[in-house]
Amino acid sequence: MRRPPRALALGLVALCLAQAARPPHGPGVSLYIPQPAINASAAEDVLLSVDYACEGVPTIEWRHASPRGQRTVAAWAPGGPANVSRSHRGRVCTFPNGSLQLLGVGVPDAGYYVVTVTERRGGSRFGTIALQVSEVLYEDLHFVAVFLALLAAVAAVLVSLLWVCNRCAYKLRAGRRRALKESAVEVLELQDVDC
Ligand SMILES: *[C@@H]1O[C@H](CO)[C@@H](O)[C@H](O)[C@H]1NC(C)=O
Ligand SMILES: *[C@@H]1O[C@H](CO)[C@@H](O)[C@H](O)[C@H]1NC(C)=O
Ligand SMILES: *[C@@H]1O[C@H](CO)[C@@H](O)[C@H](O)[C@H]1NC(C)=O
Repeated sequence: MRRPPRALALGLVALCLAQAARPPHGPGVSLYIPQPAINASAAEDVLLSVDYACEGVPTIEWRHASPRGQRTVAAWAPGGPANVSRSHRGRVCTFPNGSLQLLGVGVPDAGYYVVTVTERRGGSRFGTIALQVSEVLYEDLHFVAVFLALLAAVAAVLVSLLWVCNRCAYKLRAGRRRALKESAVEVLELQDVDC
């Protein structure tokens, strides 16, 4: 949102890279990406969800393109062990359907993720997921806003309590004054009778 031209250029670069790396469409591979754009906050776990269909066991490769360059994140054949790049070791989970989960994302993890599914005969298909990561600062501000609202609510409750107490004290005092006045009248009446 903040830098759309750069993001657009990056997207194009990612597409070109993927296209240059592999033939764009294989005969028998289909790839399904339910959510091609994801917004996450820092420290969240993000699932880059995909599913594929093809004959036999393909290889799946994920690449990350960002302003700091592009690199392979992980590559694996479903059912086998995953090759995870050193930069992402311990920070990703791979799934048999080709999905990749990023654990505890940071702002540098934002960018474009290109997944390529290649079947043994050479056919392949790729797809792209754009990931935006918003900084924790936003959450801090959110927290401060919630805290202020809470404080205001507490203050309002205190003020109404004070008001209620005030009313009670006033009524008590009024009642006592009325009682005093009544006894005074009785004394007067008694005096009237005397005379
Ligand atoms: C992500 O956030 C941008 C603005 O920051 C918004 O335009 C876009 O619709 C959001 N996308 C999703 C999938 O929430
Ligand atoms: C892929 O598998 C993961 C884990 O089982 C699941 O959460 C995700 O929804 C699947 N993705 C699709 C597109 O089916
Ligand atoms: C994983 O890495 C090893 C060694 O570099 C390589 O031989 C193997 O083909 C790789 N597997 C995949 C699925 O990329």
